[in-house]
Amino acid sequence: MHSKLDQLTGLKEDAKAGGGKKRVDEQHKKGKLTARERLEILLDEGSFVELDMFVKHRSNDFGLEKQRYPGDGVVTGYGKIDGRLVFVYSQDFTVFGGSLSEAHAEKICKIMDMAMRVGAPIIGLNDSGGARIQEGVVSLGGYADIFLRNTLASGVVPQLSAVLGPSAGGAVYSPAITDFIFMVKNTSYMFVTGPNVVKTVTHEDVSFEELGGAITHATKSGVAHFAFDGEAECLIGLRNLLSFIPQNYREDPPRTRTKDRPDREDEALNNLVPENPNKPYDMKDVIKLIVDDGAFTEVHQLFAQNIIVGFGRLDGRSVGIIANQPEVLAGVLDNDASVKAARFVRFCDAFNIPLLVFEDVPGFMPGTDQEWRGIIKNGAKLLFAFSEATVPKITVITRKAYGGAYDVMNSKHIRGDMNYAWPSAEIAVMGPKGAVEIIFKKDIESAKSPEETEAKLIADYTAKFANPYIAAERGYIDEVIEPAKTRSNLIRAFEMLETKVVTNPKKKHGNIPL
Ligand code: HXC
Repeated sequence: MHSKLDQLTGLKEDAKAGGGKKRVDEQHKKGKLTARERLEILLDEGSFVELDMFVKHRSNDFGLEKQRYPGDGVVTGYGKIDGRLVFVYSQDFTVFGGSLSEAHAEKICKIMDMAMRVGAPIIGLNDSGGARIQEGVVSLGGYADIFLRNTLASGVVPQLSAVLGPSAGGAVYSPAITDFIFMVKNTSYMFVTGPNVVKTVTHEDVSFEELGGAITHATKSGVAHFAFDGEAECLIGLRNLLSFIPQNYREDPPRTRTKDRPDREDEALNNLVPENPNKPYDMKDVIKLIVDDGAFTEVHQLFAQNIIVGFGRLDGRSVGIIANQPEVLAGVLDNDASVKAARFVRFCDAFNIPLLVFEDVPGFMPGTDQEWRGIIKNGAKLLFAFSEATVPKITVITRKAYGGAYDVMNSKHIRGDMNYAWPSAEIAVMGPKGAVEIIFKKDIESAKSPEETEAKLIADYTAKFANPYIAAERGYIDEVIEPAKTRSNLIRAFEMLETKVVTNPKKKHGNIPL
């Protein structure tokens, strides 16, 4: 028996060595961790159970028959994060550049299937040169097997992707289908075609980082939800995000304990919105003064900053927050902001995370650029997402709620459960100046003193419409509240809504305007 145990130990050591010391050193020189080092940071200590350690590829072409590494370039298995089960795969760049063979794909598919059976999140740590070139179409088939599982798992269990090295060609579409993409600055990149192909086809000279690095995808394309300075921060970021999310669509998010009192009031909120409606303020200050311990995990922090999305807690309950940001483009809704928020709303709804909206929106962004890029269909995405969401939904209008944007931002009419307004709210079809210039155009032009007349009309309009009370008279606003008391109001309302049940009409699936 001893010799058999020694054999087993030896085989395991071989598998753990990956592509060998030289390649591991090269990986470290690039500022990257190995597949196993990453799992040590990601998972609770000692919790990882590895599967398929001895799987090898079956290819006999191009000299591959002489290089069969146990594990075949990917470490797979299950473990725990904060004591909760997760399934993971971690690609090993030291073995054939982490490239995906038939066997490598089968290992990933196996843990995805198990995650679906038991209802636990799937985390992919991607670091791969793409399809194993020597295996040809078989590796393409392997990718498609993963894409199918990503799609079927969407909305059933949370799927998180970290891109920690190359992710190129069709390989990008697995992370792209998952719920969140995490990247690391300077060491990870994603693109469908790399700089060389770009140069040939469009004659553009562009570096890997500029074309598809973390900052590019976090700021320009919106493909990455998070961009971290280093791998360790990135892996800790994955752990933190999971703390807000349930294991699967049948469960509620975990509730945590907090010492932050549910009835805590904050006077600072009463003075946060400037008297002058054209002056900006930082909506993140509002969020942080209200949520538990001021802790807000922002998603898509660098993309479409005119809208803020992210996770916080209220009396230990996880909430998904969507907020207009008056500090950026006056908080207007444009194409990118609409798509960003719509996807976030749908994620929260899929996983039973209640929605909390802070609204200060002057409307949709005008202009040819916006119209030609499809603000109609993109704005409709957000409207659709809020309308179909059945989780508890609460809105707080802090200042402007104008035009179509009033309807879209989780209004009462699209099943907002509780719609609050602060006394500073202005709820109308449009802002006073714009409204007066349209409805009183002729009166202003023919007046002896057009400026004075316009100013008086604006004052009248402001007094009549730029407040929350007309909407409150109709019941479109359930309560006008003192800003300082927002936290306690929200906590009471979310508690009341805990047993909410709403179902949408039976159908195969809706047709969100994509
Ligand atoms: C087989 C690969 C490989 C691949 C890298 N390697 N990519 N082996 N198939 N796709 C191997 C290399 O031969 C090398 O082996 C080791 O991995 C490390 O690669 P290097 O090139 O030395 O590393 P580096 O300089 O860091 O460059 C990384 C890289 C480059 C940029 C990813 O390797 C690269 O361009 N690879 C090819 C990328 C690609 O075109 N893939 C196919 C994309 S199409 P040794 O033995 O020397 O250590 C695709 C389709 C998917 O993926 C479709 C899904 C629908």
